[in-house]
Amino acid sequence: MTANSELRSRQWFGATGRTGMAHRSWMRSQGFTPEVFDGRPVIGIATTWSELAPCNVHLHRVAESVKRGVWQAGGFPLEFPAMALGETLLRPTAMLYRNLLAMEAEELMRANPLDGVVLLSGCDKTTPGLLMAAASVDLPAVMVTGGPMLNGKYQGTDVGSGTAVWRFEEDLIAGRMTQEECAFAEGCMARSNGHCMTMGTASTMASMAEALGMQLPYSATWPAVDARRYETAQRAGQVVVDLVRRDLRPSAIMTRAAFENAIRVNAAIGGSTNAVIHLLAIAGRLGVPLTLDDFDVLARDVPTLVNLQPSGQYLMEDFCYAGGLPAVMRELAENGLLNSGAVTVTGSGIGGCVADAPCWNREVIKTAAEPFQPAGTGTAVLRGNLAPGGAVIKQSASSPHLLKHRGRALVFDSPAEYYAVSNDPDLDVDEDTVLVIRYCGPRGYPGMPEVSNVALPRKLLLRGVRDMVRICDGRMSGTAYGTVVLHVSPEAAAGGPLALVRTGDWITLDVPARALTLEVSDEELAGRRARWQAPAPHASRGWTRLYTEHVLQADEGADLDFLVGASGHEVPRESH
Ligand code: FES
Repeated sequence: MTANSELRSRQWFGATGRTGMAHRSWMRSQGFTPEVFDGRPVIGIATTWSELAPCNVHLHRVAESVKRGVWQAGGFPLEFPAMALGETLLRPTAMLYRNLLAMEAEELMRANPLDGVVLLSGCDKTTPGLLMAAASVDLPAVMVTGGPMLNGKYQGTDVGSGTAVWRFEEDLIAGRMTQEECAFAEGCMARSNGHCMTMGTASTMASMAEALGMQLPYSATWPAVDARRYETAQRAGQVVVDLVRRDLRPSAIMTRAAFENAIRVNAAIGGSTNAVIHLLAIAGRLGVPLTLDDFDVLARDVPTLVNLQPSGQYLMEDFCYAGGLPAVMRELAENGLLNSGAVTVTGSGIGGCVADAPCWNREVIKTAAEPFQPAGTGTAVLRGNLAPGGAVIKQSASSPHLLKHRGRALVFDSPAEYYAVSNDPDLDVDEDTVLVIRYCGPRGYPGMPEVSNVALPRKLLLRGVRDMVRICDGRMSGTAYGTVVLHVSPEAAAGGPLALVRTGDWITLDVPARALTLEVSDEELAGRRARWQAPAPHASRGWTRLYTEHVLQADEGADLDFLVGASGHEVPRESH
């Protein structure tokens, strides 16, 4: 137990003389009575609210519920902003700024008089960014994600944010939809507060936070507008005060066992490939040994249990009503696929938290005995002379007939270069072609955007082709689908073999054998490498320069090299 006199906030608010007066007096300008400085735990509420991050725009209200819980438990809550990353607006990609959010939030937590934190996130990068920060500061922390939007509804059917966008675009290109119909559909997809309600990256990372034990059971799935989300937020405020008193920190929760749980849960829910990069980055902050190959090895025994878009049919609202993540974790636990003793923010092992979790709809949450997709169909890690550092493919979102494929490469140095010709009826492409889109990695784009699942060439769409093999060093939205090899590492801009591929080369994809092979001799590749020139730097100053000079490759989590690890929460020197 931590005595109140030992709280780090006492070094601010318990100080005497000029120093203590300065720390307290300006806080009192907000109308707080002096009792708030009596030695109660001070809880920071890091909110990624912004009108530029529409998925997080309701987090102010969530924060109010958290505050209620903190006050109830005898703490002193203080809300503060952390960088909001809106996936849909930020260019060149929100991923360029995930590490900046993590760095900003880490420094704010350490530099302020905080004893514990509640992390409010929602849109894709805000969840991993805040978890990375909390890991590096290692103050008691609870996450509350903002929850998914209500199901989209268009022409009498459910439409999933993100997933439907890709489909509508293809329908538009193929003439199956008009521009007016698309504009109408936009408003039908996003009809409430919340993040994407498919099993995209936001839903996946919310589930990862719950599977890691960093947010309370059911937190990932309550819709953003459901009253129970606000109840859970209030409960989180109570819980974090308790965590401070018990000195239970992220490093004791996010252990290797917890990451193994997260990886298996990701396979069971058909989660986003982006979880691979984010979990590697979070583990790197904690010194937890975790490698790209762990994702393949641990997921092989796990069937996909959740029938959600983009791999399946339903949406997060349905998942919530069916029983949410605890029902999935119970099924994993009962089949020996969960480290039940991994402790959570509840203070209990995760197995105990989910032991009695009911399932109300077996169409949405399947059993291990009759899964949605069999074991071994989750995210696979590929290696070969085209990806010596590894690459990933989401099997459940791929076309089964393309998982073993040999085709000739058609190579583009950017998505823009491809889209400049993708509608050309004379483009030399057929359904066996392998589209290679490169210079989209962490350094190359920069920021490793979600551009890998380029729309198919128009001439193929008009012929009814719905999928083809694509290979890229970028990422793919968790809401997207298709047979797309992602995260090729090292990336082209770092001189990876992807940079050496030429149009017409043969490429073999063999997912069952976990192989990605460029059928070009080592001698020929050595000659091409000798003639290869690295692209010019993207920026001479600012964050982009810092990022591109220090970002790690995808197989290492794309963190900055100097941010790996933790600095703890030692109280810094006085400011005046
Ligand atoms: Fe924010 Fe999908 S755009 S969660």
